[in-house]
Amino acid sequence: MTDQPAAATDPAAATDAAAATSADSTATSADPADWRDGVVYQIYPRSFADHDGDGTGDLAGILDHVDHVGPDVLPIDAIWLSPIYPSPGRDLGYDVTDHTAIDPLLGTEDDFDRLVAACHERGINVILDLVMNHTSDESAWFLASKASRDGPFADFYLWRDPSGWDADGKPLPPNNWVSFFGGPGWEWVPERGQFYYHTFLVGQPELNWRNPAVEAAQWDMVRGWLKRGVDGFRLDVFNAFLKDADLRDNPVIEGGSPWSRQDHRYDLDQPDFLELIGRFREIVDEEAGRMSVGELFTGGTPTAAAYTRGRHIVFDWSLMESPWTAAAFAAGIDLRERAYGPDLWPTIALSNHDRERQATRLSASVGRDRDPDRAAIAKAAAVVILASRGAPFLYYGEEIGMIDVDIPREEIVDPPALLAGPDFPWYDRSRCRTPMQWQPGPGAGFTTAKPWLRLADDADTRNVAVQLADPDSVLAAYRRLLRYRRTAPALRHGAMTRLPSGDPDVLAWTRTADGQRLLVVVSFVGQPRQLDLGTLAGGRWRAIVGSHREPAAVAPDGTIALRPDEAIILEAADG
Ligand code: GLC
Repeated sequence: MTDQPAAATDPAAATDAAAATSADSTATSADPADWRDGVVYQIYPRSFADHDGDGTGDLAGILDHVDHVGPDVLPIDAIWLSPIYPSPGRDLGYDVTDHTAIDPLLGTEDDFDRLVAACHERGINVILDLVMNHTSDESAWFLASKASRDGPFADFYLWRDPSGWDADGKPLPPNNWVSFFGGPGWEWVPERGQFYYHTFLVGQPELNWRNPAVEAAQWDMVRGWLKRGVDGFRLDVFNAFLKDADLRDNPVIEGGSPWSRQDHRYDLDQPDFLELIGRFREIVDEEAGRMSVGELFTGGTPTAAAYTRGRHIVFDWSLMESPWTAAAFAAGIDLRERAYGPDLWPTIALSNHDRERQATRLSASVGRDRDPDRAAIAKAAAVVILASRGAPFLYYGEEIGMIDVDIPREEIVDPPALLAGPDFPWYDRSRCRTPMQWQPGPGAGFTTAKPWLRLADDADTRNVAVQLADPDSVLAAYRRLLRYRRTAPALRHGAMTRLPSGDPDVLAWTRTADGQRLLVVVSFVGQPRQLDLGTLAGGRWRAIVGSHREPAAVAPDGTIALRPDEAIILEAADG
């Protein structure tokens, strides 16, 4: 999760000048057992497909649609399932009561094993979302911890005595830490006569990772999933796991909300955190070919790069926070390439379950948030995410250009959105979590019941069935690009070098690996543009695939006439 609301990214003053100096990168991950350069598709299980007809998506529903992410429709390398464990659902699964089991709301243990087997039959890896920073306040660990200051679970959470008592005899919190979800960070528990800390909701008490028993219990859980055939893990808010051992006050700074008015020196990014990641990777590496991705919680690209280690990759938000301009994307790409350098492998995501969907955000960022512009931008963005260096993470519905849905207040299901106010700005995440749109008609093929969260108004026209039949659709673009990416080593793991395009609204870069050299050109405007590819990249080029059904052709003189919002991948014509 990133800071909310989205931080503005400074557009590069001179896109091309920056390109001329942008560092070459040569990182590859050419080991076939190392699939961190594959494409990951994030599924929010409650919203993907409802098999049992209760209005909420489930694992059997994902199984019903597993071929959607298989080689014939969207050839991806892995699905990431947002949390599937038992949970009271206060943070919709990010508040876990038992990390070793399947939430009955989503299905059975057997459903999970069948889903993993079906994915593996199709060559799809399965990534689980591990919420190891906190548990639900209804977990057995927390209930035992709350009940007694003695016993094996007493120190599983961040319990502290009050720092004093006010004039009314009320306990004062141990330090100045606040909750990211608004309000105080400390919750008083009279039974124990102590406070516990929670970065998120009161119902998400923070685990005490400085207790070796907590770490051991987490690694046991990880081993259990590895044995069950899971191929990788996403680590929720992983840089929050460790806190300062003395729980010192955070320094107070300028900011727009209680959270951003603190320098999070003592509750995030502790100096010994990298060692913890090393110990985690040792467990994961007990089984061959497994990956992990850390969710960077409120941190910049250099921090993401600093936590990247071999097969442990990290989300970086620079492109997710960029408006749809060539200057902003150039700045984001250059920042990433500089921070990661040639040896570290980045990730790239334009949407997830915490942020506005790319089809909404990018087009709105330039005041073009109506079709056909919106769909055209979504298709060009598909080229960016699938042709940049790094592991692409797609979010369910992105492939059909799903947009955010206006949710009336009484239907909001995102708890912090209900706390939002002038001192606590918040994007209602219900907007980007609406049910997948599979086909026209009631329930959109998602459910036969009333969906747990309202469907988009455009579900009859924007859905998988309609777009599968339309070669100009957003889905058709993602399919073409994904299919091509599979065949192109330079896209999968090649170095990336940005080139001056000669046009402030067009970006160009090359990708090179295994003797293959590709050129990518992306127009960020709804007007035609003319480029001279010989001057831009040298040599002769052939357009292969892009945002449009047929990419614009390169003229015999080496120029290309890009149509509005056109993005193209080209191969060297003479080599
Ligand atoms: C991560 C998740 C977000 C969740 C939070 C607390 O940022 O992506 O959805 O609310 O962690 O677990």
